[in-house]
Amino acid sequence: MISVIACTNRPNSNSLKVAQYYINLLQEKGIACTLIDLNALPEAYLFSALYHNQGKDLVFNSIKEKIAQSEKFVFVVPEYNGSFPGVLKAFIDGLDYPISFKNKKCALLGISSGVMGGSLALSHLTDILNYLGMHVLALKPRITRIEKTFINGEITDTVVKDLIEIQVKDLLAF
Ligand SMILES: Cc1cc2nc3c(=O)[nH]c(=O)nc-3n(C[C@H](O)[C@H](O)[C@H](O)COP(=O)(O)O)c2cc1C
Repeated sequence: MISVIACTNRPNSNSLKVAQYYINLLQEKGIACTLIDLNALPEAYLFSALYHNQGKDLVFNSIKEKIAQSEKFVFVVPEYNGSFPGVLKAFIDGLDYPISFKNKKCALLGISSGVMGGSLALSHLTDILNYLGMHVLALKPRITRIEKTFINGEITDTVVKDLIEIQVKDLLAF
């Protein structure tokens, strides 16, 4: 099972749309996958599910179950203030350590309004995931200027689109 994680809780985010695009690519290849949308986190997540409340939030527990059942992950990572969104770090901090990610595998895809495509965000996230024992695929495509390059659910930049196709194949062989 592959979990595709839309790494922001911003409503109607591009991350969610790109995550759905990625799920379609995986499903076309007959791969079992599921969406984890950080916008589906409980509203009070920071106080209902962390630290002394670990295990008490049923919604978060069901998300943790998806993580437990996944051997591979795709993180669709938007660039927020030169890094990844804080909600993603809070999400990771709420997961069981080390079993959630240790010795599992993942691919990262960056997106941004600007020209970086979350380059630093992917680098920051790689450090954290490696610390947690997760193997991160080397190929990390970035969709830059997303408002101009992701239209009606399609990637208009053919170079990036091809890189994502290669990433899917590499992730399946990883
Ligand atoms: C809090 C916040 C910070 C952002 N910071 C950056 C940034 O540093 N660089 C950039 O290119 N775009 C930045 N953006 C724009 C996002 O990259 C853009 O909204 C893109 O669609 C991906 O985010 P989304 O999944 O929330 O739609 C930021 C957006 C938000 C909401």
